[in-house]
Amino acid sequence: MEKNELKHLAIIMDGNGRWAQAKGKKRSYGHKAGADALEKIALHAVDMGIKYLSVYAFSTDNFKRSKEEVDYLMKLFVDNFHSKYNKFDKHGIKVVFSGVTEHLPDDVIESMKAITEKTKNHQNGTLNICLNYGGQEEIIRASERYHEDLNAGKITKEDMNRDKFYEYMDNNLPPIDLMIRTGGEKRLSNFMLYQMMYAELYFIDTYFPDFNADILDDIVNDYYGVDRRFGGINEKKGNS
Ligand code: FPP
Repeated sequence: MEKNELKHLAIIMDGNGRWAQAKGKKRSYGHKAGADALEKIALHAVDMGIKYLSVYAFSTDNFKRSKEEVDYLMKLFVDNFHSKYNKFDKHGIKVVFSGVTEHLPDDVIESMKAITEKTKNHQNGTLNICLNYGGQEEIIRASERYHEDLNAGKITKEDMNRDKFYEYMDNNLPPIDLMIRTGGEKRLSNFMLYQMMYAELYFIDTYFPDFNADILDDIVNDYYGVDRRFGGINEKKGNS
């Protein structure tokens, strides 16, 4: 069997809070450890030749958490985008964001713009950070952009199909091949629903701060062996 392609990996980074609480620490300690784990995983994914990595950093619904936790996460984003994630720049990784800036503090928006600008020409890999993001909301934004183009005569109804629609999503990223959710829950939580159509789904109990290169290698090796049929049959295996 031919090896499956792995162009776009997506991760729901869950379990930071429980990881910290199990150690008798505050949830914020887990988020900081999660940010460190993400840095290592993103660098490793590029080394593995994975061109696109999408991660769920903050859902629109996460604003419902305590003010203390939301404030901490916002500060963590600013710190990382301004300084720590300079490593991505050095390794030729382009950083993009999906989601909306509405309700985000100014310093977070400014740090997002800075890292996007600094890395915009990089080509070794793309890290898509979903921040203040919801998957259904992204589909609505895409349909609004499509209707604008339709009204402006830039596209016709006949030109639209499910491949073309990707161009209207936040960053025109390819379909997700493999999605990993850490932390034991088995749901998609409104994450990249359009792009996830034929993704292979892996739900693992490991809390995100403990997620590492070895675990990713094991999952990817398993993924390479999976028979992906995309709704059809595998011709090479026969259809009996
Ligand atoms: C889910 O774990 C995680 C989050 C809501 C935040 C994810 C953020 C990071 C991993 C840090 C990313 C940092 C940057 C700079 C992009 P949870 O808090 O819901 O954990 P729980 O399920 O154990 O409560």
